[in-house]
Amino acid sequence: MTQAFASEESSESEALTSEAAAAAASSCSREFRANPHPVYAALREKAPVCPLSPPHGVETYLITRYDDARAALADPRLSKDMYGAIDAYHRIFGDSSIALDDNMLFSDPPKHTRLRRIVGSTFTPKRVESLRTRVQQITDKLLDELLEARPASGPVNLLPEFCFPLPLHVICELLGVPENERKQAQEWSATVAQTGFGPEARKALEIAEGNLRDYLVDLCARKRSEPESDLLSALVTAQDQEGALTDHELVSTAWVLLFAGHKSTAYQIGNAVYHLLSRPDQKELALRDASALNAAVEEIFRFETSVENSTFRHAKEDVVIRDTLIPKGALVQISITGANRDPEMFTAPGELDVQRPNVQATHLAFGYGPHYCIGAPLARLEMQIALGTLFARYPRMTLAGAPEDARWLTVPFPAFRGLAELPVVLDPS
Ligand code: HEM
Repeated sequence: MTQAFASEESSESEALTSEAAAAAASSCSREFRANPHPVYAALREKAPVCPLSPPHGVETYLITRYDDARAALADPRLSKDMYGAIDAYHRIFGDSSIALDDNMLFSDPPKHTRLRRIVGSTFTPKRVESLRTRVQQITDKLLDELLEARPASGPVNLLPEFCFPLPLHVICELLGVPENERKQAQEWSATVAQTGFGPEARKALEIAEGNLRDYLVDLCARKRSEPESDLLSALVTAQDQEGALTDHELVSTAWVLLFAGHKSTAYQIGNAVYHLLSRPDQKELALRDASALNAAVEEIFRFETSVENSTFRHAKEDVVIRDTLIPKGALVQISITGANRDPEMFTAPGELDVQRPNVQATHLAFGYGPHYCIGAPLARLEMQIALGTLFARYPRMTLAGAPEDARWLTVPFPAFRGLAELPVVLDPS
């Protein structure tokens, strides 16, 4: 962020009262979604554990300071077991998503430990590293196709053409989703991701969830009869040999990997391209060599993570954080975006500094504690290859418009922080 952007952000946050900031975060207005940073800055300062009034009507508290966020992410009093807050869960997500969410992300120990261990034993760093060549090939192919489709001097929306297909193909390859079935799976999962509260959104969501579930049940059956070397076959084998997973858990685990495995990475690639193109000095520093790029990727995870808020937790008992009582049964959300820009933790947090020291060990983009992102090594690998290859091929690439005209996602409910579109010119003539 340039100095001008940064000071604009701090004066905006000073002007916000805690009530106004809480209202903005609750209503998820278009303005808030377009730029949530001043609101989170005001909340960190004035209401760090803030009661919200979200549209789903379930009592919810939002945590925005770094220390509180890190502690809350690992706090066993804040449960992730969806069955323990099933009424709230139904109100927010409807009935049908229960069919897909019986996985590690929505469970507590010992179930969480069991489910995570089974995936961890097959989704190993070795398996991720073995994907390096494939990730590079997929990246090269997508960039070749980009060029074939249009002149490099015209604008192209990188999100659907590059940022989304790359992680989608990678996770599908890892799981063993056949190539000709990937587009359909992606469409259903995109519908499932669009959390809306109207009856139409709910209906579309339920249909997509049903289709996805049926598809994954069928895919698991195919892997059982004809196992291959992919992750899903390994999970099916673990289920058969050790009885370690129920059918429901197997399908839900496939779903969480498919979904979490592409959406967050896709938006993160977009955020990184956008911020580097908006700051040529930082881009030059980031592209000096592989280790500079790796450090830049970590700083962008801190500066603009694609996972704006943690998934829900609920208080198993009355919990007091920073003098605020979170009553038993209330939901808790942790603002990763807010925590990652806490000035108590990071110097000049509103500035992108790709040479910032020690950022990988401190940012919370992948969460913290037992639910720390199991896909972090894969996401890092994809980011490094995507950015390194894209900028090496198109060193003169520019944004097609002014940085301040960027359109950010304005879905009514903050889960992802990403761009709605990313128009660039690959090679301006
Ligand atoms: C830029 C990319 C990514 C980001 C920013 C990200 C972020 C996160 C965060 C913040 C959490 C913790 C959520 C919470 O505690 O409420 C999480 C968990 C998780 N992520 Fe990721 N993730 C990314 C990529 C991936 C990929 C590539 C995969 C799979 C291949 C994946 C699979 C998961 C799973 C399964 C969990 C649940 C872990 C558990 O509950 O033990 N993620 N991720």
